[in-house]
Amino acid sequence: MDVPEAIKARRSIRRYKTDPIDDKILEQVLEAARWSPSWANTQCWRFIIVRNNDVKNELAGTLTPTNPSINAIKAAPIVIVACAVLRKAGFYREGGPSTVLGDWFMFDVGLAMGNLTLAAHALGLGTVHVGNFDHKKAESILGVPEGFCVVEMTPLGYPDGEAKAPPRKELAEIVFNEKFGVQ
Ligand SMILES: Cc1cc2nc3c(=O)[nH]c(=O)nc-3n(C[C@H](O)[C@H](O)[C@H](O)COP(=O)(O)O)c2cc1C
Repeated sequence: MDVPEAIKARRSIRRYKTDPIDDKILEQVLEAARWSPSWANTQCWRFIIVRNNDVKNELAGTLTPTNPSINAIKAAPIVIVACAVLRKAGFYREGGPSTVLGDWFMFDVGLAMGNLTLAAHALGLGTVHVGNFDHKKAESILGVPEGFCVVEMTPLGYPDGEAKAPPRKELAEIVFNEKFGVQ
């Protein structure tokens, strides 16, 4: 599967089989995150691999009650929780932020998780970026120390059925020429 094909065919998967994932496959998925670009190669991402059902259930309990991925977090054989080192990405060595955008950890973790989910898809696995949950509760469950935060989590497992692609905006709506808003 080539990259453009993987990008187009990846879907958010919210129904999983309980089949286990081979350690070598998991390693390939994590390698895709490890080789992602990051601000000055600071690699602020950290990943927690959760296999324990009690912990998965606790994490599922942090999702907003209407979140459509609650059962996915409980059912998938693995949940990957993406964390970040704070005040690293986008910061001068002396401590201040380099740009008006401040801490770039969301950007760098997003890039890594984007690559991770694409690699998972190419290997026949499903994922869904889950961001709508109580981050403080998740940090407490996982023992995330001061100076780090939880950004997102994804179930990882073999999809139980196919997911429909939600529509995308047309390129004409999101791409401009030379200046903002110029079609
Ligand atoms: C930053 C981010 C946070 C998201 N949070 C959730 C979430 O909390 N629960 C959920 O079910 N899906 C979540 N999603 C998945 C989106 O709903 C999904 O990517 C979007 O509808 C497009 O569908 P597709 O991934 O199948 O192309 C999130 C996606 C992103 C990028």
